[in-house]
Amino acid sequence: MGVPTLFLTVPDLLDLLRFAFDAEGVTFEERFEQIRTAALLVLGDFGTQSATAWAQEKLFQIVNYRYINKLPLVVTTNASLDEIEERIRSRIQDPEIVSKVVIAAPDYRHPSDDKGHPELSSLDLHANKTFINFDDRGDEGLSLDTIKSLEKALKAATTFAAKPRGWLVLTGTYGCGKTHLAAAIANFRTDLGAPPLFVTGSDLLDHLRATFDKYSPVSYDRRFDEFRTTPVLILDDLTTQSITPGVREKLHQLFTYRYNAELPTVITTADTVDEMDARIRSRMLDKRLCTIYAITAPAFHGGKVRKTKR
Ligand SMILES: Nc1ncnc2c1ncn2[C@@H]1O[C@H](COP(=O)(O)OP(=O)(O)OP(=O)(O)O)[C@@H](O)[C@H]1O
Ligand SMILES: [Mg+2]
Repeated sequence: MGVPTLFLTVPDLLDLLRFAFDAEGVTFEERFEQIRTAALLVLGDFGTQSATAWAQEKLFQIVNYRYINKLPLVVTTNASLDEIEERIRSRIQDPEIVSKVVIAAPDYRHPSDDKGHPELSSLDLHANKTFINFDDRGDEGLSLDTIKSLEKALKAATTFAAKPRGWLVLTGTYGCGKTHLAAAIANFRTDLGAPPLFVTGSDLLDHLRATFDKYSPVSYDRRFDEFRTTPVLILDDLTTQSITPGVREKLHQLFTYRYNAELPTVITTADTVDEMDARIRSRMLDKRLCTIYAITAPAFHGGKVRKTKR
């Protein structure tokens, strides 16, 4: 479109500046000026540069100049914001002039590398839990209401698996089949080629806790974003009793986001709804988004096995 554009990766940009010191015909100042004032500047691989004090300073000067003068700048990065130097981070987060777009897609070059979320997911422990081997428990002499509660939960889970929509909450006592159904949903989706993020409540809380550890080597900001924005989240065995205020706040942030964006979410818990954190409970009680299924059956002890023995 006739806009003179400078397109560089940050490591190349820094090389260009370094070598301008001994290049012929162009001084460092001239080159620096060209970059700082380009009509449009596109910087790729931001945040991967070796952060010598000099490089950091030059980069800051460029970003700052363009920030003050409102010159068009495009930055691409696979660093999370907390890995970027503070002064730059603050400028590229100014909502007045900056728009940020997060691309959640896996690597286009190796889409098959995306086996769901291997480091977060504990789904492989539940590979054998499916809808097909979910027993109707008709031979245990359970009350009609109890059998109905199982049927309803199973039906809701299969419907959700076929087409994830809204929130599905499964409650009930230990061993009644909540994890089984949650894992069956996840396995079904995985077989369809759309693996959801399956994570236990305690793993999630551990991750949120680690958000506060500033010496942690992993970028928890990025991970937190993943929990918040993943297209389908299956959270198994969540309890919100006895968590610290900091973790609680993170958890609120996560649920509020998924609530507002109406992102498909499954939550299983052995807590009653009344025991659930009040702010999360209020969102769960919104019937437009969420349906709660209370399984009233007792723990399952392998109906089929017993029958064979009999
Ligand atoms: N209706 C069922 N048919 C077949 N297997 C079942 C059924 N209900 C539960 N199970 C099995 O019983 C065991 C306990 O069930 P599950 O792990 O789903 O319980 P849970 O409700 O998640 O309990 P907890 O609150 O203790 O985590 C699992 O091995 C599960 O596969
Ligand atoms: Mg469970």
